[in-house]
Amino acid sequence: MYQTLKTELAEGIYIITINRPDKLNALNKDVINELGQALEEVYTNADIRSAIITGEGAKAFVAGADITEFTDLDAQGGSALAQVGQDKVFSKIENAPKPVVAAVNGFALGGGCELAMACHFRTASEMARFGQPEVNLGLIPGYGGTQRLVQLIGKGKAMELLMTADMIKADEAKKLGLVNHVFGAEELLSKTRELLLKIQGKAPLAIARIIALVNEAATASSTGYSNEIKAFGECFGTEDKKEGTAAFLEKRTAVFTGK
Ligand code: COA
Repeated sequence: MYQTLKTELAEGIYIITINRPDKLNALNKDVINELGQALEEVYTNADIRSAIITGEGAKAFVAGADITEFTDLDAQGGSALAQVGQDKVFSKIENAPKPVVAAVNGFALGGGCELAMACHFRTASEMARFGQPEVNLGLIPGYGGTQRLVQLIGKGKAMELLMTADMIKADEAKKLGLVNHVFGAEELLSKTRELLLKIQGKAPLAIARIIALVNEAATASSTGYSNEIKAFGECFGTEDKKEGTAAFLEKRTAVFTGK
């Protein structure tokens, strides 16, 4: 049984719900570990034909990595965090041989936006908000955001979102191609299930090959993800990371010095 996730399997669709609503479903170590286990289940359980990842509560899908776990991490700890997450969860989702769809029910920020982007495609409720606010903390994305955001919305818009930390609403995310469909909050899961039931009616071996080949077409750089992990770690060695994370925890605006 999971401590930080709720799971259910019906009609071949495995729904994985991240369940820390009081912390806006932030990804702490336990969530990453348990998501890794749930993904093993997706890979190995023949009764699972597809999966949905969503967040508990009306407010958040996932509001990012858990910033309280950043305080004690140095450069090495920072890259280790990113490496473990990418290996256990983010690339596991992307390379799953069965469709994995994010149903984004609220804030999808930082690691939350990255989690949604690692999925094969995304649906969103009207309440969804997307952004990569790591620069507010003196950081960069570490779970593939610098790579997958470019793949999904193109270089110029990705540059702007990553550098401004701006949040966008569901309708803009749809215009940009970040999400495929926007549904009313009440029908987000049922409409997402309908899409997956349609896919489950197709030949599973063909679907697995489509996933692998589309991933290959979308991946421009073979070193992008590992370089991101390295650069994420380097940011953890800076004064600006100390200031940025302290400012978040003290609920004030950070003052960066470029050190
Ligand atoms: N890590 C740890 N805790 C987080 C969190 C995160 N990424 N995001 C939210 N929380 C916690 C808050 O600290 C707060 O905890 P508290 O009640 O113990 O004080 C709780 O979740 C509710 O969030 P709060 O900030 O009070 O809600 P809000 O409606 O005022 O603001 C957000 C919502 C999403 C704008 C704001 O929570 C936020 O900016 N979160 C961080 C986003 C981010 O930078 N993510 C990238 C991390 S790399």
